[in-house]
Amino acid sequence: MDAIENILTRKSVRQFESREIEQEKIDLLLKAAMASPSGVNKQPWKFIVVKSEENKKKVIDNMPFGKYSSSIIIITCVRDLETVPFNHDLAYCDLSSASENILLMANALGLGSVWCAIYPHKGRIKAIKKALGLPIGISPFSAIYVGYPSKDDKSQVKDKFKERNIEYL
Ligand SMILES: Cc1cc2nc3c(=O)[nH]c(=O)nc-3n(C[C@H](O)[C@H](O)[C@H](O)COP(=O)(O)O)c2cc1C
Repeated sequence: MDAIENILTRKSVRQFESREIEQEKIDLLLKAAMASPSGVNKQPWKFIVVKSEENKKKVIDNMPFGKYSSSIIIITCVRDLETVPFNHDLAYCDLSSASENILLMANALGLGSVWCAIYPHKGRIKAIKKALGLPIGISPFSAIYVGYPSKDDKSQVKDKFKERNIEYL
């Protein structure tokens, strides 16, 4: 799959096979995340790969719109939010970019994925932080569910290209 096809065929997948993802593929998902650009190259992130059924349940229990059963859930986190003095808004932009890179790498690897929001929901941030016992300075941003798409998965690539959303000056 080339880069153009990858970007244009990515879609949210919410039904997965129980099959595990190979470690080499998880490594590539994390490499993609960290290949993302970041403001002033601060790389203000941490990626938590939730694999055990027990810990996945802890995440799912706290995600009202993320009740999906996937092989892994990657919790992308903003790092050093409380301890490093820099523009936190920039860090959230960085984590958005890293999250999208994970989705694109998943698609390239034949995996399905869906990004579920933790940030900016204060209650969800607090609950996930507590459920996973995250230390001070690590704040969860997104929960990305990744797995092999189920044969029952009916998700479609949506054509969202709209001329009205473009302006040339
Ligand atoms: C910031 C953000 C938050 C999202 N949160 C959720 C969520 O909580 N639950 C969910 O099922 N999908 C979530 N999604 C996925 C969107 O619903 C999905 O991207 C959108 O419907 C477009 O579909 P597509 O990804 O297949 O193009 C989220 C996506 C983004 C970018």
